[in-house]
Amino acid sequence: MTAITTTMLKVPQLRPLNILTDLLTVANLVEACFADSLDAEGHRYIQQMRRAGKDSHFLRWATTAMDTVSMPLSGYVWEENGEVVGNVSLIPFKCERKKIYLIANVAVRSDYRRQGIARTLTASAMQLARQRGAGAIWLHTRDDNPAALALYTGLGFRERARRTTWLAKPTRNISLNGSGITVTARQARDWPQQEMWLQRLYPEELAWYQPITWLSFRPGLGPSLYRFFMDFETRQWAAWSNGRLLGVLAWQPASGHADRLWAATAPEDGASALTALLCHARRALTWRPNLALDFPANQVDEAIHSAGFQPRRTLIWMQADATAALDERR
Ligand SMILES: CC(C)(COP(=O)(O)OP(=O)(O)OC[C@H]1O[C@@H](n2cnc3c(N)ncnc32)[C@H](O)[C@@H]1OP(=O)(O)O)[C@@H](O)C(=O)NCCC(=O)NCCS
Repeated sequence: MTAITTTMLKVPQLRPLNILTDLLTVANLVEACFADSLDAEGHRYIQQMRRAGKDSHFLRWATTAMDTVSMPLSGYVWEENGEVVGNVSLIPFKCERKKIYLIANVAVRSDYRRQGIARTLTASAMQLARQRGAGAIWLHTRDDNPAALALYTGLGFRERARRTTWLAKPTRNISLNGSGITVTARQARDWPQQEMWLQRLYPEELAWYQPITWLSFRPGLGPSLYRFFMDFETRQWAAWSNGRLLGVLAWQPASGHADRLWAATAPEDGASALTALLCHARRALTWRPNLALDFPANQVDEAIHSAGFQPRRTLIWMQADATAALDERR
């Protein structure tokens, strides 16, 4: 009797994600585990996963592209009694010939938590990234997720950046007066200063994930022709006070999600310029549905808030040593 029961029960196991068969199950698991924090973009992501899971052409292509395209096509799942109850995705990126791996979609069904499943899944993804020659291993988590923070810190990840995404709707009903800041069109002569500020606020170490297309901001004939032929629209405004440049804001339209704003401001006294520029953008872009600003967290939150922007989320970006031998902690 004991022998029969033992053979009927499937042993809990870690196994590689099978992109051909697991995608729908993983979409359901990720949706259930992130239910509290999914916004419109998150729901779109899940829908895309489901669509992909039903598309045989995509799935056939995906088996050949696992380690080349920046999509969650590989990783591991954890099974209990034949059911997938845990997942981790490993997403490849390339930056100046360096392979960078992003660990994502770490999720364990609520009735199987605190058994070390996420730790094993994440450690296995780190190991796989190292086997594939990772130059760096990254992940990000929301700042209001202490469980994930403890999990990743325990596996050797360390915080490298903390960034907030802010959202606002354009509107004509916003006052621009009273700050003593003048907003004008950005001129070519403003570019060297703007470039320095952009480099400080959008650091190189995250460029693999969020690359800045410098040609979209640079003045001059070449960049203008590039923007024209690539159908790359942009607008840029500069904020001045007493003849001094205090900040520049660039806008790029996006389809399917909020338009992107890139703020470049003086470190010491750029806060009021940022408010003025953001208000100006909201007034100038009234035909656009939504504006998004990604900015270092906790630096000038009040200035961004004063322009009517609301924080959508703050992400903590963490990095682990890609070369260290994996410490097996189960
Ligand atoms: C976060 C999550 C993946 C953890 O899964 P799990 O299998 O329960 O985690 P583990 O059992 O492997 O825990 C490993 C370590 O993480 C930390 N941890 C996990 N859950 C925790 C909790 N609820 N509170 C505090 N620390 C926690 C602990 O340090 C734990 O080690 P310990 O049990 O020895 O103390 C799971 O809670 C989950 O799916 N949450 C919803 C989705 C999510 O937030 N994913 C992370 C996105 S970045």
